[in-house]
Amino acid sequence: MTPSTANLEPVNRLTVEALAVRTASGRRLVDIPALDLQPGSSLGISGPSGAGKSTLLYALAGLVPASDGRIQWGATDLAQLKEAPRASFRAKHMGLIFQDFLLFEELDALANAALPGQFRQRTERERLRDNARRHLQRLGIESDARRVVSFSGGERQRVAVARALAGDPPVVLADEPTASLHREAADRLIDDLLALVNETQRTLVIVSHDKRILERLDRVIELNDGRPTQEAGDA
Ligand SMILES: Nc1ncnc2c1ncn2[C@@H]1O[C@H](COP(=O)(O)OP(=O)(O)OP(=O)(O)O)[C@@H](O)[C@H]1O
Ligand SMILES: [Mg+2]
Repeated sequence: MTPSTANLEPVNRLTVEALAVRTASGRRLVDIPALDLQPGSSLGISGPSGAGKSTLLYALAGLVPASDGRIQWGATDLAQLKEAPRASFRAKHMGLIFQDFLLFEELDALANAALPGQFRQRTERERLRDNARRHLQRLGIESDARRVVSFSGGERQRVAVARALAGDPPVVLADEPTASLHREAADRLIDDLLALVNETQRTLVIVSHDKRILERLDRVIELNDGRPTQEAGDA
C-alpha cells in the first residue's frame, strides 16, 4: 500500500501482528500472532483470571507498551509511538471502560462522564457534555450534583460507560463492562453498545466472562497464558 492510500485507512480498522507484551524481567504476558478487526465489528476476549485479557486490551489502547510487533489502528502503529503521542491518539479516537471504572470520587456523574472534554477544544467541550448527559439519562443515571463516592457498583459502571461514549469515539474498549450489573441491566448495556457499533461502524472490543454477552459478538478469542487458544486463535 502506498503512503497516500494508507492515510485513508479508517482509524478503527485494527491489524495486530506478532504482538508481545513482556514484563521488565522478560516474562511474557501477552503473545498474539495475528488479529484483524474491521470497522463496525465486535470482538470478545475471554479466558481465565490472569490469562492476560486486561493486558491485551490495554496494549490495544496503547496504555501498556508493546515489547514487539505491530498494533495498527488505521495508518497509526501504536507500537511505534512513544507514550505522549499514544495518549493523544487514545484521547482522540478511543473510549475506554476500565475493570475498576477509574472514576473521580469527588465529582458528580456528569463531571465524570464529561471528563474526556478536558482533552478537546473548547468548542467541542459543550457538545461532549451534552452527549455525556444524554448517555447518563439513557443509562438511568441522574445528572444531579451527588458525588459518585456514594454510588453503587452498577451505577459507577454506567457512569464509566457514559464517559467512554461521550466523545463519540470510533473505537470502544471495555474491560468486563457488565461485571457489576444484574442480568437485565447487563443485557441492556450490551444492546446499547452493539447498536452503536452497527449504526455507526465503530469497533468494539469487550473483555468478558459472560457467555450471553460473548455469543452476541462477531468474534471471540480465548486467551490462555497470554496466547489465543487453538480453537479461537485464528478467529
Ligand atoms: N506490569 C506488570 N508486571 C508484572 N506482571 C504483570 C503486569 N501487569 C500484569 N501482570 C500479570 O500478568 C497476568 C495477566 O494479568 P491481566 O490483568 O491481564 O489478567 P486478566 O486476564 O485481565 O485477569 P482477570 O480476569 O483477573 O482480570 C497476571 O498474572 C498479572 O499479575
Ligand atoms: Mg482483567
